[in-house]
Amino acid sequence: MEKGMLFDTHVHLNGKPFIKDIDNIVKKALAGGISKMVCIGYNMETSLQAIDLAYRFPGIIYAAIGIHPNDCNGVSQADLERLENMLDEPCVVALGEIGLDYHWDTVKPEKQKEFFINQIRMAKRKSKPIIIHNREATKDTFDILKQEDISSIGGIMHSYSSSLDMAKEFIKLNMMISISGVITFSNARKTKEVAKEIPLDKLLIETDCPYLTPVPYRGKTNYPEYCYYVAKEIAQLKEITETEVIEKTYDNACKFFNIS
Ligand code: NI
Repeated sequence: MEKGMLFDTHVHLNGKPFIKDIDNIVKKALAGGISKMVCIGYNMETSLQAIDLAYRFPGIIYAAIGIHPNDCNGVSQADLERLENMLDEPCVVALGEIGLDYHWDTVKPEKQKEFFINQIRMAKRKSKPIIIHNREATKDTFDILKQEDISSIGGIMHSYSSSLDMAKEFIKLNMMISISGVITFSNARKTKEVAKEIPLDKLLIETDCPYLTPVPYRGKTNYPEYCYYVAKEIAQLKEITETEVIEKTYDNACKFFNIS
């Protein structure tokens, strides 16, 4: 088995364009070599949908739930309490995606930080790992993870695109580095360097579908089964076999999410 063991740690099957055609999407993913995926929420609605999908496809889809930094506006204290209760669902394997995004100015940085810190503390109360979205906010993200002493629960740096030096610092905080289809882009110099230099036992693979479509499908919709192209690129950079990358990242993900 090689392709049949792909573990895509970050999919958005809960949003458009997938939710209406979900049976077909999952069938195609399994036929394309996917074994397991984590469906990631980014607001209350998509977090509930992620849980719903995990119940519809047990052993294939798992859920992560959380409020994305760009989706904090309009989220009430009651929503956060509900989110905390939802973390008790056995299919919920992580809290995320949460973090900081300074690219868009829809939510003020101070508010983003408040939600980020609140949700980290929630994850610690529930002993669930976190999944981090960081865009143009690496220093603040790192400082908060360190200040909140994240190492007891650990987390994932989703679609990692910062420097190799910072990747090593995040690993010291018990974070995993997740590589997306961006690694297949010819200009993704930093991400390629990270994938080459970081030990395989700290790496995970993901698609972030429907976004971040890898070469050779760049510009089209992304699907979970394209996770293969991420593994293939890592194998080439590390000069090891695709099987090794696929099997090891599968084991890493099962261990990280506490899935047997
Ligand atoms: Ni995402």
